[in-house]
Amino acid sequence: MPDTTVVNVTICMGSSCFSRGNSRNIEVLRRCVEEAGGSAVIETRGHLCENMCKSGPNLIIDGTVYQNVQPTAVAGLLRHHIAANNTGG
Ligand code: FES
Repeated sequence: MPDTTVVNVTICMGSSCFSRGNSRNIEVLRRCVEEAGGSAVIETRGHLCENMCKSGPNLIIDGTVYQNVQPTAVAGLLRHHIAANNTGG
């Protein structure tokens, strides 16, 4: 049975990040979770403003902070982390 890859995503739900793009990034994340099916588990959680508003929208994936994240970049970032976690052993 293949191992399941887990990726942890934290998305800033503060008003600045939300209006700068995380409202759309959430939709992309939802689609990615569906598309991953059973091959990867994408655990998502929200958090409130962490005082990095000017650099938003902000996402944290497996502890790495990504800033100015546009919806077109979300799927690629997730693929990168899924691949990295797959080879991590
Ligand atoms: S609203 Fe996201 S860092 Fe402030």
